[in-house]
Amino acid sequence: MGGRPVVALTRRLPGGVERALAERFDLRLRESDDPPGADEYARWLREADGMLCAVTDSLPAELLEATPRRTRILANFGVGVNHIDLAAARRAGIAVTNTPDQLTEATADLTLGLILMTLRQLGEGERMLRAGSWRGWRPADLLGGEVHGRALGLVGFGRIGQAVARRAALGFGMPVHYVTRSRPVTPAVPAVAGVTRAESLEAMLGAVDIVSLHVPATPDTHHLFDESRLRQMRPGAWLINTARGTIVDEVALVRVLADGHLAGAGLDVFEREPAIQPELLEQPGVVLLPHMGSATAETRAAMGWRALANLEAFFAGKPVLDPVG
Ligand code: DGY
Repeated sequence: MGGRPVVALTRRLPGGVERALAERFDLRLRESDDPPGADEYARWLREADGMLCAVTDSLPAELLEATPRRTRILANFGVGVNHIDLAAARRAGIAVTNTPDQLTEATADLTLGLILMTLRQLGEGERMLRAGSWRGWRPADLLGGEVHGRALGLVGFGRIGQAVARRAALGFGMPVHYVTRSRPVTPAVPAVAGVTRAESLEAMLGAVDIVSLHVPATPDTHHLFDESRLRQMRPGAWLINTARGTIVDEVALVRVLADGHLAGAGLDVFEREPAIQPELLEQPGVVLLPHMGSATAETRAAMGWRALANLEAFFAGKPVLDPVG
């Protein structure tokens, strides 16, 4: 006993956080930045006091509840924890933390970027130019949809949903409607003119041109956007997903895009990352990004420092900053 807690780090981290972790803990660091295999997680759960993990680390019950087990905390680098079986962690006496406040603004920025890319066909324009096929300015070329003033519907109104609403309403003059099931809007969020709560998801889908998803991946939200829900969206509408891929039935999405019910989709997350549904790649109105919502140097560093702070608090016997569950 005694000595520094053993902490396993599943992925390479930017921003000097690895060095700081190594100064505070007996750090088990991998040279490779590919996702570890199940046998590596099993070994760490047996040998490490804590694990700093991320969205790509699948930690199901059979791993978390296996014995002997030494791990007492999973400090997640990121807000979504759908890759961790939280009930099994609870049963196994493993604390779970995340980094909910660090990536709000970066993810909201990316959501607006994806809306612009999708409606204004920015990717297509750039590809055309790079391919050498731009023949100069033409009045009828690359005509996208106007973003300014277009009605936006938000599914979920937590931190990121609210940050998107502020940008859309104040910066782009968009009427914003939102639905939230889990909790009322916190009083700390200033009311923004033009942002209103919709009576129901169905009512909202019929009233907006762009639908953006901001709910966590849970059994309740799995395929929340199945074919019937996608068809409740206005004809010619766009779907934006920067939350989790499993919220959308991708096969159904391909169908509603292919038959022209939806004009397009902007996706930063996918059902089976990093695999992409091949038919999605063939849809002209679709913009696909590789899960980049929180990918700024500042945000990824802040996420790392926060995960470290959660580990430090835990091993100092203090309340963790961001308990999950
Ligand atoms: C999160 O935090 O859940 C992101 O998807 C990963 O950065």
